[in-house]
Amino acid sequence: MDAIKKAGPTVIVIFGGSGDLSWRKLVPALYNLYLDKWLPENFAVLGLGRKDLNDTDFRAHLHEGIDKFSRRGKANQDDWDRFAKCITYFKCDLSEDTTYTNVGNQIKQLEKDWKGDVNHVFYLAVAPEFIEEISEKIGNAGLTTDKKHHRIVIEKPFGRDLESARALDESLSKIFDEGQIFRIDHFLGKETVQNILAFRFANALFEPIWNRNYIDHVQITVSEQLGVEKRGGYYETAGALRDMIQNHLLQLLCLIAMEPPVTFDGDEVRNRKVDVLHALRRIKIDDVSRYAVRGQYDEGWIEGQKVPGYREEQDVAKDSNTETFAAVKFFIDNWRWQDVPFYLRTGKRMKDSSSLIAVQFKPVPHQSFQNETISNLQPNRLIMNIQPTMGIRLQFQAKRPGLKMVLNPVEMQFDYKETYTTGTPEAYEILLLDVMLGDTSLFMRADQLEAAWSMLDPIIKVWEENPSISFPNYASGTQGPEEAEALIAKYGHTWLNLPPVKNDNKPQK
Ligand code: BG6
Repeated sequence: MDAIKKAGPTVIVIFGGSGDLSWRKLVPALYNLYLDKWLPENFAVLGLGRKDLNDTDFRAHLHEGIDKFSRRGKANQDDWDRFAKCITYFKCDLSEDTTYTNVGNQIKQLEKDWKGDVNHVFYLAVAPEFIEEISEKIGNAGLTTDKKHHRIVIEKPFGRDLESARALDESLSKIFDEGQIFRIDHFLGKETVQNILAFRFANALFEPIWNRNYIDHVQITVSEQLGVEKRGGYYETAGALRDMIQNHLLQLLCLIAMEPPVTFDGDEVRNRKVDVLHALRRIKIDDVSRYAVRGQYDEGWIEGQKVPGYREEQDVAKDSNTETFAAVKFFIDNWRWQDVPFYLRTGKRMKDSSSLIAVQFKPVPHQSFQNETISNLQPNRLIMNIQPTMGIRLQFQAKRPGLKMVLNPVEMQFDYKETYTTGTPEAYEILLLDVMLGDTSLFMRADQLEAAWSMLDPIIKVWEENPSISFPNYASGTQGPEEAEALIAKYGHTWLNLPPVKNDNKPQK
């Protein structure tokens, strides 16, 4: 989050360097940081992997990834050649101690050449079962002794329930201080997500009404048209609750519901967010079916294409009980939010790819307009579009031009693309830079994770112990299972299904 400091000399060691994350996200992000001159002069990437590659093959593979996935499109050859010099590959077995001795020797050589304090960033882009072993070996090799400059980055899933997350934390804490551990939730690096803090705490306008007196309910939706693609193996062990709600959606909820921080220091923001998680009303085992709904996609049609059902996907069991859709109703038991429902919903193979937060305000206390005037009335809503459309919309009523008094819902809009011409950095650019700077504010702290897992544990337990008899229960290309409508209809609410906005400022009918 620090826009002024520049990182000191840094070596990034990527475990799983020849894997997909590195190819699609990490190296394109580093390359863009390089183009924007955010990387330190002394900088190196060491990719570790099992594939039999030399430096030239490895660099060619990464070049291809940049051409495909970088937000700037194809790399300019001269820029790439200069950047590629920082990258080396090391074919190795991650279970062998010699791997870590060799990595240590390479780092020592760089330290000699560069002088001064060098940041060691160990990025674990590997399957979760390897985290403990690798981190232990990094520690045993003496590569993490400088608590200020040696860091480890861990991708989700961080545990699969409260117990396993605690066990993982305990084992990491034997090697690293909390300030050295960077647990990634890439949603927190998204521009639109960071803008929630700016919107709430740099403007006096909304804060006075940001509470139970004026807000009727909040909806957080992350819907994706994509299915599980080639990630069936992982997804079978996760499901929508663990994959999305436990981390991304609960973090969005925290940003909407948190109290104003005194500063934007790493721990202050995280303290305010964890306060929200601690105030979430615990869902009792017997109440799970009243608070949470699950779904699994069947075959269907998305944008004219026939797509298979989840159980037909690669590496997925034919009788899988894994949910690809989850919706949960939360309450926050504190003064600001008592009795205001927060509805969270996410699903794969949905009708639209659209992530948004809708804050719906209460109706006026007395309606002076006649029924025919307000037949088209819609509640006031503030909608934060996270992606793919990025912006904020405020929906309110206005008089339709004409001799009669007829009210019509209209919108005020802030649209990133219209307002800013500069490119928007990808989440991984922001997060990787923060890792190099040692700024933990956008990363998950152990207590946040535990609080999030403890909220979801009852749902996980009930869903695992009672396989769904109705799966698959929604067709691909729809808004998810009908039970999700019922979940919120009980309170007189309906899900807001907004397709990505076209810039025509037309009211939603
Ligand atoms: C990941 C999940 O964390 O987030 C994926 O594992 C999901 O299942 C992805 O598709 C969504 O992220 P984004 O940035 O593509 O919206």
